[in-house]
Parts: sequence; structure tokens; C-alpha cells
Amino acid sequence: MNVLALHSVEHAYLGRSVLKGIELSVGTSEIVALVGPSGCGKSTLAQVAAGLLEPKSGRIERQYRRHAMIFQDPSLLPWATAAGNIAFGLRLARLPRRQRAARVAEAAALAELEPGDLGKYPVELSGGMRQRVAIARALAVRPDFIYFDEPFTALDVALRRRMQDLVIATCADAGLAGLFITHDLHEAARIAHRVAVLDTYGAGVLGDRPLPGRPGSRSEAQVQDWVGAALSRDPLFRHIHDVDERQIA
Ligand SMILES: Nc1ncnc2c1ncn2[C@@H]1O[C@H](COP(=O)(O)OP(=O)(O)OP(=O)(O)O)[C@@H](O)[C@H]1O
Ligand SMILES: [Mg+2]
Repeated sequence: MNVLALHSVEHAYLGRSVLKGIELSVGTSEIVALVGPSGCGKSTLAQVAAGLLEPKSGRIERQYRRHAMIFQDPSLLPWATAAGNIAFGLRLARLPRRQRAARVAEAAALAELEPGDLGKYPVELSGGMRQRVAIARALAVRPDFIYFDEPFTALDVALRRRMQDLVIATCADAGLAGLFITHDLHEAARIAHRVAVLDTYGAGVLGDRPLPGRPGSRSEAQVQDWVGAALSRDPLFRHIHDVDERQIA
């Protein structure tokens, strides 16, 4: 069963077409990675899928109950503590104070935040800790679907890997489904069950490839081999490093 399905989705900004003919689905407890060159429309696709942007045409079926989003920028409220930030969505949902506190503690534990960090303000936290707070904020609403938009791009390699492991474990334990947008095929190959590739100009999902085994069960060598083979032998991935200014920088 699909928990998310996009059919013939099209989007335009101020009359300029960005997405066309998008067909994409995510199954129950499935993590689909979406890759494609910079500017091809990945973030737009996620926003349309999540209902933050109205598509110009097409159909979106959402069978999940509740989604959360995690972006590259943790976008924390600077005047609220880590706990206050994690509780943000729960306040909006008018959850009583006691339940809110329990949910914050639960989500903070999942994101491996120390109780001592919860009273700190964003300015007092490292980049990695801020991203953990953003993850905890997302988990606090107990989503069954998560949109990830390049959440770990700004983190260094070791920290990025720990965050990936956290996502893999959390999604597997709770049976969460998600759409994980990334530039990094290696990250996609670690985190996802399947990788879908968006056209350079957003003119459709060009195809997808299943990944062997479950996320979390793949060895580093398996991941490297898969990425090496995809980049050298699979035409689907030929364009994914096109026009990507971050590869040059
Ligand atoms: N709010 C907006 N108004 C007008 N054009 C926009 C807007 N947001 C994005 N665009 C344009 O739409 C296209 C797709 O942008 P989008 O941010 O979805 O790409 P992306 O694949 O997420 O890129 P990146 O990998 O750099 O994050 C780009 O040409 C971008 O300039
Ligand atoms: Mg983007």
C-alpha cells in the first residue's frame, strides 16, 4: 500500500514550469530517497507533496495520518529553549502541559539529546545539537511520515553519519515512512529502501532503483559498491551531478 502517491503533478512559479509529469509513490514503512541536481525541483516537490504548495495540476494521495518536516536549516526559535522548540507543534495542537512535557522527553530521548541540553537556547547549542532538536521537534508530533529536505548537508561527515543512523533506527523502530531528499547518493544508499531520480529540469521522475537489504543492515563496503556501480554503470544516475555549484565549490 502507498502512503503517499503523486500522479501527473505539475508546478510552476510565476508561470515558469518547475515540475511536470511527476509520478512518485512511497509505500508503508518505506523510505524513498529523491536525488537530482541542484535546482531541479526537489524541495518544490516535497512542498507540493506535503500540501504546503498547491500544485498547478495533478493529484496527490496521502494515506498517512500526520507528517513532519526536517530541513537543512534547523529553523529553531532563538528565544525558546531546546525543550520549548521541541514542544512547538504540541503547543499549536493545544496538548496539555503535562502531556507536552512527556512528549518532549520522549522525542528528546529518541534524538539522543541529554536532559541537560533541553534548557539551553539555540545559540548555546552546536550545529549538530540544533539539528537533533529539529529532529526531536519533528518526532514530538508522532508523525507516521517524515519529509527530509537535505537535513544533514551542512554537517561534517562523522556527525552526518550519526544523524543518518539515528534516522535509520528511528524510522525502522516506529515503522515510519518518508521522503528523503539528498544530493548525496552515498547518504541515499545508506538511508533509503529505494532511490528515485528527478530530471534535471523537473520534467518527471526518470526512474528508481531498489537498494539491497534493509537500511541499517548494509555494510559500508556494500554502500560504496552500490554507489560506485550506480555512478559508473547506471544511466539513470548519469546526470545527478549536473549543474551542481556545490560540487565545484
Ligand atoms: N518561491 C519560489 N519562487 C520562484 N521560483 C522558485 C521558488 N522556489 C524555487 N524556485 C525555483 O524553482 C526551481 C526549483 O527549485 P527547488 O528549490 O525546488 O530545487 P531543488 O532541487 O530543491 O534545489 P537544491 O538542490 O539547490 O535545494 C529553481 O529554478 C528555483 O530557482
Ligand atoms: Mg532544495
